[in-house]
Amino acid sequence: MTQLTITAPDDWHLHFRDGDMLNETVPATARCFKRAIVMPNLLPPVRNKREALAYRERILAATPPGSDFQPLMVLYLTNETTPADIHEAISREIPAAKLYPAGATTNSDSAVSAIEALYPVFGAMSNAGMLLLIHGEVTAPEVDIFDREKLFIEQHLDPIHQRFPDLKIVFEHITTADAADYVVAANSNVAATITPQHLLLNRNDLLVGGIRPHNYCLPVLKRNSHQRRLQEVVASGSPKFFLGTDSAPHTKHTKETACGCAGCYSAWGALELYTQVFDDLDALDKLEGFASFYGADFYGLKRNQSNVTLTREAWTMPSEITLSNGDSIVPFYAGQTLNWRLA
Ligand code: NCD
Ligand code: ZN
Repeated sequence: MTQLTITAPDDWHLHFRDGDMLNETVPATARCFKRAIVMPNLLPPVRNKREALAYRERILAATPPGSDFQPLMVLYLTNETTPADIHEAISREIPAAKLYPAGATTNSDSAVSAIEALYPVFGAMSNAGMLLLIHGEVTAPEVDIFDREKLFIEQHLDPIHQRFPDLKIVFEHITTADAADYVVAANSNVAATITPQHLLLNRNDLLVGGIRPHNYCLPVLKRNSHQRRLQEVVASGSPKFFLGTDSAPHTKHTKETACGCAGCYSAWGALELYTQVFDDLDALDKLEGFASFYGADFYGLKRNQSNVTLTREAWTMPSEITLSNGDSIVPFYAGQTLNWRLA
């Protein structure tokens, strides 16, 4: 096959950031995706309807002229979030709220320290039909970083799901066989996003032959048996797994440093990288469901009407992207060859 046409895709998890950075990130995503779930981990975070709608306006202002790209906003749950915040915010523009355990990742200091204290909020979300998006890692300092996702399932995710079986939960950017197995076994209200890097790479790609800061993201890359299980579930065509790039830009100097930031900026090649994964798995017929159907279905939204076409054609990801203020970002897959190109 040299050409592939699929329904236009959506990105169900990414980070646009704010300010001038929006002029880079929003066009890069609108190039390819019709809708995106925009993560709320700004400083300060997006905590309520007013902040979410104001952020949405800033994103729309950075959308290229003529584009019909639609940002979908997410509330950031804190220890102070109330059921009233949920009832006020739930709408077409704000379909979800995100649970970050405190200290789990970039800008998560104001996040939730006692997850059980939020149960009244989860109850309100379940009643109102707001989705709960979860960064599923425990953060206790004694827990090994490679075990943090697995332990989160037993300590928090399963208790939340058992208590609120009707609450729609997206287990975000899963990285382990444990997470994939949990999602497969749970009821139809539990789904997961999977990033391109967790399908393409394993922890050797982070650590063998020298440390590679541009492959460092959270949850951290796991061993190859976990990577293979993620590949298996996407190739199975299960509707519980859908596209969420977790595209998360950081400037070059904040990644190439003694204590580097977590996040891979994949927007420039997102759909192309996923296409490569499905091609390598001999499962190109499953790409459209993963990229364009299952996320919309899970969120209860219409599937997109238009199409995109990919061509089998080699191209090289730029080694750096220069921002208007002179800073630069090293994109995910920098300098490497991709085999598919978006027309
Ligand atoms: C994300 C970021 O930089 O905001 N980083 C990452 O490694 N994925 C935060 C997140 O999604 O955990
Ligand atoms: Zn993320």
